[in-house]
Formats: sequence, structure tokens, C-alpha cells
Amino acid sequence: MSNYQNQVVLITGAGGGLGAEAARQFGEQGAKLAISDINEDKLEQTSAELKTQGFNVFSRLCDVTHEDDVKAFVDGCVEHFGRLDAAINNAGIDPAHNLLADTPLDDYQRTMDINVKGVFLCMKYQIPHMVKQGGGAICNIASVAGIGGAPFMSVYAASKHAVVGLTKTASYEYGRQRVRVNCVCPFITMTDMFEQTLAVMPDRDEAIKKLTQGAGLKRPAQPEEIVQAMLFACDQKNSYMTGHELVVDGGMSAI
Ligand SMILES: NC(=O)c1ccc[n+]([C@@H]2O[C@H](COP(=O)([O-])OP(=O)(O)OC[C@H]3O[C@@H](n4cnc5c(N)ncnc54)[C@H](O)[C@@H]3O)[C@@H](O)[C@H]2O)c1
Repeated sequence: MSNYQNQVVLITGAGGGLGAEAARQFGEQGAKLAISDINEDKLEQTSAELKTQGFNVFSRLCDVTHEDDVKAFVDGCVEHFGRLDAAINNAGIDPAHNLLADTPLDDYQRTMDINVKGVFLCMKYQIPHMVKQGGGAICNIASVAGIGGAPFMSVYAASKHAVVGLTKTASYEYGRQRVRVNCVCPFITMTDMFEQTLAVMPDRDEAIKKLTQGAGLKRPAQPEEIVQAMLFACDQKNSYMTGHELVVDGGMSAI
């Protein structure tokens, strides 16, 4: 089993969903946590919950599309804890679902800004610290929409393909300096992001059934199931895995 005792783990978009669950599970394994989100209330709530559980937490408001925010968060983490062992670049959005020709340009721009520029900026400021200290592990959160098409989600799919591209390229560029870079590609997971999709469907249960029928397991993932892959990706014992996209999709892409 993984063990993150005294390792410093940074997580973006930790105010809810997968990011908050990742913070809990890395914390349970002994990690010191540097967490951020764009949403102050959600960040404060997650931070308070983690501290109640006795975890060592550094939190800072950070919009991943703002270079100054990202630099201040990453540098702040290293100033506070003295190092950065692992980073989960998780913050992301899924805009309203539309056919490509009906997708507003604003949705394209906002999605690419948060999902792609955000991951790029995070790695840009994380990698030099990891290189300086002799290594580290990065896990970017992509999606199954990053390895195949996703009907009604063209810009989301484009953004997640870009995350896979950034991951693979960075893994090669910094392998010699012992920085491993992987990504996790989840299928539908029960978080606020998916609840937003369900909110516009006429029948919630029917929608879940229909949307997950392509997966062998015939159900969406729970956040804790996806976090297992993040723990695996960043585990120091998992030292030969880099440049990989870990697909966690209930068997959806097996067929
Ligand atoms: N839930 C799914 O079905 C699913 C499937 C595949 C991939 N993913 C990916 O997993 C990641 C986490 O998604 P989730 O389901 O937990 O979503 P979520 O909406 O529940 O949580 C995302 C968090 O990111 C934060 N955020 C949004 N914009 C931000 C910004 N500019 N800067 C910093 N923080 C920002 C939000 O405030 C929120 O707390 C995303 O990258 C998403 O694309 C989710």
C-alpha cells in the first residue's frame, strides 16, 4: 500500500469533488497538504475539515488561469513546507454540452484556459522545484475524453487531449531529472461536475443508467475510486511509471 508519510502533496481544485477527496486520502496516508481552489468558501470548508481530521494543511486561493496566482501558490507551498513531492493538477471545468457548431466561442476559451493553460502553468512552476530537490511526481487529471471523442463535449475533449499531450511531453523532458509525470483519465464520477450535467436531464436515474451503459461496471465511479489511481501514480515506489495515462473507466474503453 502507498505511504505518503511527511511527503508534501499539492492539489488544485481541492474545494470539492475529486480534489477534496484526494486531499483526504493523501492526508490519511500521512501527507502534508497544500490545497487551493478558485472558490474561497469551498476551499475554507475543505481546509477546515482536513484540519479537524488532524492533517497539516497549507491553503491558498488560486485561479489556475492566473500565472501570478499559480506561482504564488506553488512557491508558497515550498516556502511553507520546504519542498514539493507530488502535485495533483486537478482543477477543471466541463462546459454546457452542445454539438460542436452550437458551442459558444466563450465556452471554448474558458475551457481551454482552465483545463489546459491551468495544467500548463501548474507544471511550469512545479517542475523547477522538483528538479532542484532531485525529483518528484506530477499527476494531471485528464479524462477518458482525453483519449477518445466525447459527443456534445468537443471542447472538453480537446482540452483533455491537450492535458495528455502536456503530460507525455513533460515526462520525457524531465525524466532524466527524476520528475515523473502521469495523468489519470476518469470516466463519469459522482461529483458536482456530473451533478451539473444531471441537473439538465429530465430523469436523473434514467440519465445515469444511459450514460454509463457503455461501461462494463454499468455505474459511475465514486471519487474515492478515482483517487486510488492518483495515489498509485505519485507513489515513490511506483518509480518506473511515467508518461502514462491511467484510464479508470469501469471498463468503458475495453470494448
Ligand atoms: N466528475 C467527472 O465525471 C470527471 C470525469 C473525468 C474527468 N474529470 C476531471 O476531474 C477534475 C475534477 O473534477 P470534479 O469532478 O471534481 O469537478 P468539481 O466541479 O466537483 O470540482 C472542480 C473544482 O475545481 C475548482 N475550479 C474550477 N475552476 C477553477 C480555476 N480556474 N482555478 C482553480 N480551481 C478551479 C472548482 O471550484 C471546484 O472546486 C477536472 O479536471 C475534471 O475535468 C471529472
